[in-house]
Amino acid sequence: MNTAYESASLRNPKPELLDPAHVAGRNNTLDSIISSMPTFNNVSVDTDCTIHGQQSWLVTAAVANAGNVQCQKCQWERDAYQDKMRSMKAELLASLEMPSEHINADFSQWSVTGDNQLRERIAIIVSFAKKYAASYQKGCENILLTGNTGTGKTKLACLIANEIIRQRYHTRMTVAFKRSGQIQQEIKATWDKSSNDSDAAYIERLSRSTVLIIDEVGEADTGYSDKAADKDRERLSAIIDRRYQLRLPTIITTNMTADEFYHHMGDRASDRLRQNLVDIACVWPSYRMLTGNVRSL
Ligand SMILES: Nc1ncnc2c1ncn2[C@@H]1O[C@H](COP(=O)(O)OP(=O)(O)O)[C@@H](O)[C@H]1O
Ligand SMILES: [Mg+2]
Ligand SMILES: [Zn+2]
Repeated sequence: MNTAYESASLRNPKPELLDPAHVAGRNNTLDSIISSMPTFNNVSVDTDCTIHGQQSWLVTAAVANAGNVQCQKCQWERDAYQDKMRSMKAELLASLEMPSEHINADFSQWSVTGDNQLRERIAIIVSFAKKYAASYQKGCENILLTGNTGTGKTKLACLIANEIIRQRYHTRMTVAFKRSGQIQQEIKATWDKSSNDSDAAYIERLSRSTVLIIDEVGEADTGYSDKAADKDRERLSAIIDRRYQLRLPTIITTNMTADEFYHHMGDRASDRLRQNLVDIACVWPSYRMLTGNVRSL
């Protein structure tokens, strides 16, 4: 700030700034500021680090007395690493392929509505979801979110995924949010002659996602021939099966009931999922209905 002002005043000096009395006044002010600053009693501390060798650091007496002064170069590297992790985590959260309203969202955006009994049940579900995210790892439960459209299944799945990233982030983490119909389209796109990808490679890649949400299973199947629908289910089943082998959990949402879903997916995939599954039936009124504003004219 001063620099800009001073360089301007050098080009066009203001007489009062050159007045020795004025300059002396300024110095007095500076002296009084400096003298009123707390003085730090710095002491030298030696560290011997396996990476950076012997180093000496000037630290305040208070820090030295607290003991355990560590190699500051290691500390700077740790700080830089943590900054990098924070920014990579933020990048991942911002880049997820999920409905934009859920990007970066957290459970504070989940409103609780309904009577006391429903509120209690939702509190249990939200508390489960947070704990699940905090301890997410290989071998933990699959989640099946069932219920009518508009009850927040997609939202809940996305909030869980976001929370997993916040709580369990690591640099090799990959997170995929796919609508079931989108998976089918993307697999079919690999069959195109111009594609460098193969369906098997796509399925393997998706199956290896650290977190996988398959949204709206069953939604795109109607209108297909039975045979095409069977093929779609087989491919979905292959992903569920592969994740089972890899001990990676899958989060699924569907508008079907749990029984309809098991029937739809067939025994093999259903049995794999049910080995370790939390089934959350979202049996409450649609959020859009509860909060909507419909006028009849
Ligand atoms: N508990 C809730 N709190 C806030 N918004 C909600 C809640 N449940 C649903 N919504 C909102 O209602 C809309 C429908 O939710 P969505 O997750 O798409 O439902 P579903 O997947 O069950 O059809 C979305 O805009 C979502 O953000
Ligand atoms: Mg949905
Ligand atoms: Zn060091």
